Amino acid sequence: MGFKPGDCAAHSTFFKLTILFTLVIGGLIFFLVQRSRTQVLKTEDGWWGAGAPPNGGEDITIHAFKVTTSDDELKDLYRRIDQTRPVPSLEDSQFHYGFNSHYLQRVVSYWRNDFDWSRQVDKLNLYPHFKTNIEGIDIHYLHVKPKKVPEGTTTIPLIMVHGWPGSFYEFYGLIPLLTEPSDPGDLVFEVVCPSIPGYGFSEAPHKKGFDSVCAARVFHKLMKRLGFQQFYAHGGDWGWLVTTNMAQLEPKTVKGLHVNFAPPSKPGLPMALSIMLGHRFPKLFDFTDFDIQRLFPAMEKLVVESVKESGYMHIQATKPDSVGRALNDSPVGLATYILEKFSTWTSRDFRSLEDGGLTRKFSLNDLLTNVMIYWTSGCIISSMRFYKENFGKGLNQPHSKIPVYVPTGFACFPNELIHTPKLWVKQKYRKLLTFTTMARGGHFAAMEEPLLMAEDIQNFTKIVEKKKK
Ligand SMILES: *[C@@H]1O[C@H](CO)[C@@H](O)[C@H](O)[C@H]1NC(C)=O
Repeated sequence: MGFKPGDCAAHSTFFKLTILFTLVIGGLIFFLVQRSRTQVLKTEDGWWGAGAPPNGGEDITIHAFKVTTSDDELKDLYRRIDQTRPVPSLEDSQFHYGFNSHYLQRVVSYWRNDFDWSRQVDKLNLYPHFKTNIEGIDIHYLHVKPKKVPEGTTTIPLIMVHGWPGSFYEFYGLIPLLTEPSDPGDLVFEVVCPSIPGYGFSEAPHKKGFDSVCAARVFHKLMKRLGFQQFYAHGGDWGWLVTTNMAQLEPKTVKGLHVNFAPPSKPGLPMALSIMLGHRFPKLFDFTDFDIQRLFPAMEKLVVESVKESGYMHIQATKPDSVGRALNDSPVGLATYILEKFSTWTSRDFRSLEDGGLTRKFSLNDLLTNVMIYWTSGCIISSMRFYKENFGKGLNQPHSKIPVYVPTGFACFPNELIHTPKLWVKQKYRKLLTFTTMARGGHFAAMEEPLLMAEDIQNFTKIVEKKKK
């Protein structure tokens, strides 16, 4: 075939159009990527102290803090325990009606006669505690540095955030595995565990509106005050949302985010489709057999089950101060309310056991220590208010609309309350680097399975650190 000049012109027009087309599409993609990268959560400083903020500058001093107890505190506790009015549990009711009253008497008797609070206080003080004032309230935290750092290695700063009805104490088994790892190939962490304001030894906000984004902002300020430019974050329960918000507020500061809880905050189309069609076309949604088992039939597993177990949430998101007052007066009531969650949230099957399976995974000493942190600090009402502050603003909050672009690791424990398949996690966490299906463990995974959790945090952090190099 001969070569005609017209061909050349056509070719060059086609060529120009192709270039133009590529530029437009490329530009569009670039714009979309840039826009998503700049979708940073916005926030404004708050003031949560009583009354108006003082005129002077912020007091940024850091005070060492020790947990203490006294004879008076114990006398008051025992007097109240002794005055509890036992109620017979229904025959054959196990934990289906809430904490079994019959078994409760055993727990109460242990608490009254065998539990040694002052020894547990010494255990709490094994790690260094501090307090510092941020936005008008005293923030309590543990700051655990490794005893020895091998030459040529730098420690990895990590903030770990607890949830409800837990506390910083949930991390006591996990901390040494991260700060003093036994494997020389492991990373050495420097750990900060704050108490969410209104929880444990952190002061409660005096004003309305302190939600997860406020907690995230306050913890960023805490980490800056401690001198960390960049760090990793880990969380479960509320700690999941607080650390997620931290990643959304300052994506450059949070090097990696590791969570073991991630209920979908905004159900999108892929999630809706996966619920409708996932049972029949599991491969399409990357569903495993375990996903199918946990999610279907959806009406039963996702709706009925969560209605059965979320009554507490409705109360706390609406009228925390009413029932909270009773719990703040009665140590037995408080233990009942808190420990019921440690039973059912560790395994749904524990509802069918006379003793709620409580001591299968935890010791009464550890469980009661967590209860005592709530009791002695008198924080149950303020801890419950966090639900009202978070849900009270409606579900359509800016943070639930913005994805997370920080490298993320997800530890999927089989007995978690709300099972979240990989597809759903990826909807929110766009840089999901690891998704680990764990062999065992439930909602309080850091406390229940510290070894597995430490291993997963190590694995995830090593991948992020390698990528940086
Ligand atoms: C961590 O990584 C190791 C080595 O790849 C693997 O054997 C182990 O199962 C992982 N553990 C967890 C909990 O992810």
